[in-house]
Amino acid sequence: MKESIKDLKPYVPEEPVEALKARLGVERVVRLSANENPYGTSPAVREAVIDYVTKHDSSQYPDGNASSLRAALANHLGVAEASLVIGVGLDEVITMLSRAFLTDKDSIVISTPTFSEYALNAQLEGATIKGVPCDVVTGATDLGGMLNAIDETTKLVWLCNPNNPTGTYCSVVSLRDFMSKVPKDVLVLIDEAYIEFVTGAETASALPLLKEFANMGLMQTFSKVYGLANYRVGYLVLSPELVNYVQAIRLPYNLNSVSQVAAEAALKDQTFIAEVVAANAKARQGWETCLDELKIHYYHSEANFIFVEFASPEAAKAIADLWLKAGYQVRSGLSPKWLRITVGQAADCEAMQAILRDYYKK
Ligand SMILES: Cc1ncc(COP(=O)(O)O)c(C=O)c1O
Repeated sequence: MKESIKDLKPYVPEEPVEALKARLGVERVVRLSANENPYGTSPAVREAVIDYVTKHDSSQYPDGNASSLRAALANHLGVAEASLVIGVGLDEVITMLSRAFLTDKDSIVISTPTFSEYALNAQLEGATIKGVPCDVVTGATDLGGMLNAIDETTKLVWLCNPNNPTGTYCSVVSLRDFMSKVPKDVLVLIDEAYIEFVTGAETASALPLLKEFANMGLMQTFSKVYGLANYRVGYLVLSPELVNYVQAIRLPYNLNSVSQVAAEAALKDQTFIAEVVAANAKARQGWETCLDELKIHYYHSEANFIFVEFASPEAAKAIADLWLKAGYQVRSGLSPKWLRITVGQAADCEAMQAILRDYYKK
């Protein structure tokens, strides 16, 4: 066994909803712990999948280039087809990037807290992790601090935008300034898993910066706003100089045909996306209003979740337990006093807020 994995613990995945219902003895569980889409998936996806499985058997390997999806994505993003690496979710993309670029002599720079997979994969490669804490009051990513943390060992900088779990967002202007100061031999990977949910900026995505900076990569996923978490499709856009190193790491038939078909159908239904974004923004505002009223500290979110700080770890646990008893599962364990709440549908948010108000009345 590799030294680097000796102390690692296997990832504990979300408990399947059916198992959770049985364990809690409740009829309905709304999972608001994994930032999935509470509005489901575009109906066009179901149709496309049914059409595909009706017409094809599964005896042949899938299109290893995901050609049709690749063309659709390239067109949607306005990038060259060859600049795309399509993975089994961004999870696989993060693994491929780490495998391609990191050794035990290298380091990565991340903001903390952030999505755990950047550090986990660095650890697998034996690389050092340099975490730069976010602003404790606003949750803002400390871009200056991240620049200062870069040294001659730094190979990758991971920037999650909006950041999971804080929900905070860095503007394209601030990222352009950041990129202009990063050494050209350091690759900056901007993870935009939640970018579609941003409503506080006209141009949210850092996509335009790809033309300016060859040492930048951009990642997006179908798991969140597209409601396709089960099909596992994510992608990376990278410069021609670097993209083939990642393609060389990719397993030949990583993405199955049903996922390819599903993602392409999801991409076409931008009306569904606009509806989800609008509903999420409204419900997110409802959460912020409720938390302001109750004087509970949270970070302003541009994503589909809110990171909320309670008075003590005990209070956070008590509230998470009350919600769970009512069938609402949120994410704890990221930071002792904090819960990360995926923004659910309006009626569910209101029910959760009623429980919270009740708790604070007592
Ligand atoms: C910031 C971020 N990046 C990547 C992922 C993984 O996404 P995928 O489902 O595409 O593997 C997640 C999932 O929660 C995430 O929060």
